[in-house]
Amino acid sequence: MARLDFGPWDEAQLAYNLNKIIPEGWFFVTDSSRRIVATAMCLHNYSGQSPFTGDLGWLACHADHRGKSLGLALCARVTQRLLEAGYTTIQLHTEYFRLPAITTYLRIGFVPLITSSEASSLWEEACTRLNWRFTPVIWQRQTQQGACR
Ligand SMILES: CC(C)(COP(=O)(O)OP(=O)(O)OC[C@H]1O[C@@H](n2cnc3c(N)ncnc32)[C@H](O)[C@@H]1OP(=O)(O)O)[C@@H](O)C(=O)NCCC(=O)NCCS
Repeated sequence: MARLDFGPWDEAQLAYNLNKIIPEGWFFVTDSSRRIVATAMCLHNYSGQSPFTGDLGWLACHADHRGKSLGLALCARVTQRLLEAGYTTIQLHTEYFRLPAITTYLRIGFVPLITSSEASSLWEEACTRLNWRFTPVIWQRQTQQGACR
């Protein structure tokens, strides 16, 4: 994690996230030497709106191991674990420039939640770059119906 562009990943950051990981909710992919090459977490997120909101958090893959859809496999596993644990809203946060992550999230079925015209422009641009249909009206309907976001 510390090698990626997430900002400082220190003991404090680890402790903060350890407090939020649900039981059996931290997944790793290892290589043949058992070195960790990719990871993602199931995080409890008490949103104040629903007691059962879970976050897909800290998806990351070592640069040498990208291109094999390990991110997709980890997202699927995190989503499965959160559903199994009873979470009814599953969300994540990302940044507009993280195109490999965004395409992974869209492929697995997450739906953008667009709350401002600035976010709308960024999503439109990301979709253009990913060759993904920009469909805010459909996404809004899906989030209202309780789809993953
Ligand atoms: C997100 C991450 C785990 C995905 O790794 P991965 O599973 O190996 O994903 P891939 O490299 O297979 O990329 C996924 C898709 O994005 C596409 N992609 C990669 N870079 C891209 C770019 N710059 N523009 C458009 N598409 C891109 C790939 O072509 C691939 O599609 P394909 O399967 O059709 O080839 C990895 O990129 C990573 O660790 N990124 C840094 C950390 C990060 O941003 N985490 C997300 C935090 S929210």
